[in-house]
Amino acid sequence: APDGKRNGDLHRDYNDDRNASSEDTVYTTSSGAPYPHPYEVQRVGENGPLLLQDHHLIDLISHFDRERIPERVVHAKGGGAHGYYQTTDPMDDLSQADMFKAGKKVPVSVRFSTVGGESGSHDCARDPRGFSVKFRTEEGNWDVVANNTPVFFLRDPAKFPHFIHTQKRDPQNHMTHADDSTMFWDYLSQNPESVHQVMILMGDRGIPDGWRKMHGYYGHTLKLVNKNGEWVYGQMHMKSKQGTDFITQADSANYSPDYAQKDLYNAIEKGEYPGWDVCWQTMTPKEAEDLWENEKINIFDLTHVWPQKRFPLRKVGEFFLNENVKNYFAEIEQIAFNPAHLVPGIEPTADPVLQSRLFSYPDAHRHRVGVNYQQLPVNAPRVPYRMANFQRDGNMAFLNQGSRMSYLSSISPIQFRERSTDLDKVHSHFIGGAVTFLSQIRPEDFVAPRTLWEKVFDDGAKERFVENVSGHMSTCRKEDIIKRQIAIFREVSPDLAARLEKATGVKGHDSIANMTFNGTHNGFAKEDSK
Ligand code: HEM
Repeated sequence: APDGKRNGDLHRDYNDDRNASSEDTVYTTSSGAPYPHPYEVQRVGENGPLLLQDHHLIDLISHFDRERIPERVVHAKGGGAHGYYQTTDPMDDLSQADMFKAGKKVPVSVRFSTVGGESGSHDCARDPRGFSVKFRTEEGNWDVVANNTPVFFLRDPAKFPHFIHTQKRDPQNHMTHADDSTMFWDYLSQNPESVHQVMILMGDRGIPDGWRKMHGYYGHTLKLVNKNGEWVYGQMHMKSKQGTDFITQADSANYSPDYAQKDLYNAIEKGEYPGWDVCWQTMTPKEAEDLWENEKINIFDLTHVWPQKRFPLRKVGEFFLNENVKNYFAEIEQIAFNPAHLVPGIEPTADPVLQSRLFSYPDAHRHRVGVNYQQLPVNAPRVPYRMANFQRDGNMAFLNQGSRMSYLSSISPIQFRERSTDLDKVHSHFIGGAVTFLSQIRPEDFVAPRTLWEKVFDDGAKERFVENVSGHMSTCRKEDIIKRQIAIFREVSPDLAARLEKATGVKGHDSIANMTFNGTHNGFAKEDSK
């Protein structure tokens, strides 16, 4: 278990630093030399220039000049806390993951965020929320890099940079979509597979009331592998014990920019520790094939959900946040979550968006934090064995594995743990229909959005939805974009389209059947219009 010894003196230094107070300190330069006072600039005479020998001043200012690191390219505004996870209902029949065994308790660190805004942007923006959890298990860190919605805007990862650029500032007028929504709706009206996520975003769940009152969803299908090498597909959910709540568009103007940060911080300071249940939906490969055959739901398609009635949630454990961070930069800004940080018993699937994310995050971390980011205390695994590998050197290599050989040596060999499962078994997966669906719009893409409109939204929710969409569209500079988007909403429900036409004063296109979608294949197209 985490004992603080493994990292030697460094770990103790870190805790010492983390608990620093101003008492018992001596003011020094960065090289440790005591200095009498910070405001003692060396200068020639009373009005002369400063001296290059004034290392104290240069030390201070040159470090200040380098204080900023790049903000996250997405999810830049966020906050979080530490806590612990414990298994309540062991799941070792399905997964050999150490943390799912009876009696297991592991430390966690969580970061919540908005997606599109910059580091100083408003916590109450209408935007999905990021929900990242680092489970510090005894077999390495498992990072859940999730959102508060079960689906996403796309299923083709090549669209991600395009989509995100439309959520950021316009390259010419430098406005966000709050003031100019043209790019925002241009993208969505060209990529109708986004409509499920758009229904959620523009509905009540689009502005959650802080971070405590929202659920988290892994979104992608994972594989759970047990110790016999048998596996099932899995969808992970984090259910808020506080329930869910939302803020309306009109009311959001009454909240301060750091509302969600304040709400979480104050709750933890008061001892009101927020908690979430960790639950799984599971599916056999045969059931996945049947779902594709019968309902054309592909479990590697991030724009679709698994029906909960047929694939009910099974709880495995719960986590609570009970410790505020001591230093925001060290513990939140530098924390690095990566979907590729998996542990034995949890495997990725062929979901194309997940596959791309496995590459994208560590690539971003090496750029944003540096090549040795895993050595920073907040990212370092806390495993009960001494880690060994052949990664060496690079900028800021604090822990460089001593005199141990930096190649696979026969003179002093390192130790291996045997693989417990048959790789051939684990790497098989279902592939039915997975080749063409990425770029094709199909009638099934509108089933879940229609259920939201017809069965989930009550009258009030419908009114707010229409208000949110039409209000946001009021800054869209091209009417044809609105016509396109209304046609997409018409596939969801003619009632919804009619209400939007009334609210925007724009008559939408009749059907998407004759529309083309910027490289996205229209599965509705009539033969002659293809
Ligand atoms: C952050 C890429 C889709 C959830 C990030 C970051 C990148 C990225 C580069 C910044 C990482 C950092 O600097 O630490 C991508 C790509 C995607 C994708 C290329 C699709 C192709 C998704 C999806 C989800 C998601 C589908 C949720 C299910 C998050 C979260 C963060 C994040 C929660 C913030 C992590 C933190 O708190 O540090 N993403 N992303 N992303 N992404 Fe994605």
